[in-house]
This record gives sequence, structure tokens and C-alpha cells, in this order.
Amino acid sequence: DWTMEDYKNSSIKSIREKVGDGKVLLALSGGVDSSVAAALLAEAVGNQLTCVFVDHGLMRKDEGDEVEAAFAKWDINFIRVDAEKRFLDKLAGISDPETKRKIIGEEFIRVFEEEGKKIGKVDYLVQGTIYPDVIESGAGDAAVIKSHHNVGGLPDFVDFKEIIEPLRLLFKDEVRQLGRELDLPEYLVMRQPFPGPGLAIRVIGEITREKLDILREADFIFRDEVAKAGLEHTMNQYFAVLTNMRSVGVMGDGRTYDYTVALRSVTTTDFMTADWARIPYEVLDRVSVRIVNEVGHINRIVYDITSKPPATIEWE
Ligand code: XMP
Repeated sequence: DWTMEDYKNSSIKSIREKVGDGKVLLALSGGVDSSVAAALLAEAVGNQLTCVFVDHGLMRKDEGDEVEAAFAKWDINFIRVDAEKRFLDKLAGISDPETKRKIIGEEFIRVFEEEGKKIGKVDYLVQGTIYPDVIESGAGDAAVIKSHHNVGGLPDFVDFKEIIEPLRLLFKDEVRQLGRELDLPEYLVMRQPFPGPGLAIRVIGEITREKLDILREADFIFRDEVAKAGLEHTMNQYFAVLTNMRSVGVMGDGRTYDYTVALRSVTTTDFMTADWARIPYEVLDRVSVRIVNEVGHINRIVYDITSKPPATIEWE
């Protein structure tokens, strides 16, 4: 019988044979695919592997630290680039969604290019392409480079001789299984899809560090209550959005004029169409009460009850 353990062992063996004593580079996004690819390579070639993890400051609460922690047990070259200031400076004053995406994509490439120059020549570049990406390019949270670039082409700024795609034959659930086989923590293995531009497209309108922090806290509370209710795996994507609308509220003796947070949660098989998740009212209530009590500058919570189409999953 064929098991994922066999698959892991034979992959490790063939990667070792191919790579020899060569140098390997991987752009780690923290998504399921790039994380599992990184763990496999780490297991196979250890410190011949360099992982570049660009922290653009647009991730969810604690996410950067969690990704770094997950790879601490391997003797690899793990480079976490703290690029928050660069990204936020570039995004200052920008409110158009596609312009945000473009800026983030370009800046990401620039940061990666600079790191690539420091590393110098590598022999192999690893990409976390999975089988659905191969058959219909664009599905799934494919390798960082692809999702930011929106092309399947090879990055021309890193000098390497060959690309390795160790997950090319696997479906998503098999990738997750392989991740478990490699002892990656469950929070990485079961991670919901997260867009390359991150929270930049969940802060509607202009982005500031303060708004990102507000959104991070609200989103964390939503995910925390969903997990406590045991509903994590009944929804395919769920998150908070910080709208740029403020409205009047009342707190204690005074009136407030603060932001509205929208909660978004969908069920879907392919992310091309989606239905809004029927989260129990009691859970929505707990999320609402906690967010307004625990997070400053929010006085109203709404739940998005539109399907896709006509709405999209993200708000931008
Ligand atoms: P929409 O909002 O188009 O989202 O219904 C469908 C899926 O795609 C993700 N998404 C993105 N992923 N870069 C990405 O890597 C992007 O710019 C982007 N925009 C949307 C979204 O999270 C959902 O899973």
C-alpha cells in the first residue's frame, strides 16, 4: 500500500540525488504550499536550503512569528526580511485596489531581488506548485512569485540552473497530509487561503499602520471565536474587513464616531463561486461583543450576506 510516508521518503531521496551538494532557494509565503515545499526541502538538504520570507507587514496577527517558529527546528538558512516600512511607505495615500496590488507585487519582487543578490548564485529554485496549478494555472495559493506576479514564468533576477516543484503531483489535501508527515504545525497545514497582498486589500481605502492594527485585532477575535465554536473547518475562508465607513455610536456617556468592521465568511469548493456561511447567531454575537469591547475605534459590526457572484469573496 502506498502511504504519504512512502511519498515523503521517496521525495526526499530523489531531491537529495538531484541536488547533490548544490544550493537551493525558496521564497516562503507562509501559505500551505510553500510551507510544505520548504519543510520537504529542509528535511532533504538541510542547510543547503535558503528560505526567504518577506514580511510585508500585511499579515494577520502573529502570523510572521508563527511561520518563523515552525521552521526553527531545521538547520536551514531562514531569512525573514522585515519590509513593513518599505511597503507601508509605498502604499501611503493609495486607495485603489488594483494599484495596491500592483505596488505590493512590484515591491515584493524588488525585496526578493535584493535578497537574491546577497545570496548570489544558487543551483535550484523551489516552487510550491501543486497539481491544480498545473492543470489550471491560477488556482490555489500557489508559490508567492506566481501569485504576486500573476505569471507562471521564472523569475529572471535570481541566477539558478533549474526549478524544483516537489508538490507538482499532489492535490491540496495530499499537500496537507504531507505537511503533517513532516511535522509541520496544524496551524500551517490547515491554513485558509490568504491573498498575496494580505490585509492591504482588507483595509478598504487608504492603508495606515493604525488601521492594520485595528483590523488584525478584530480578525483575530473572529478567528478565535470560530475556533472555540469548533466551526473552523465548516468554512473555506473567513476574515474581518475594516471598512472606511464611520458611523455614530454611543459608549458610556458619550457619542462615538468610529469604524465599521465587516465579517466575511464563505463556503466554496473552487473560490470561483461561493455562498455566505450560515454562522450561528450566538457565535456572531460573541464576535461582535468582543470586537467592540476589546478593539478601539470600532463601534459597529456587520455580517456580509452576499454570495459570489454577484459579490467577490474579498471586498477589494
Ligand atoms: P475574490 O475576492 O476574487 O477572491 O472572490 C477569490 C480568491 O482569491 C483570493 N484573492 C487573491 N489571492 N492575490 C492572491 O494571491 C490577490 O490579489 C487576490 N485577490 C483575491 C481570495 O482571497 C479568494 O481566496
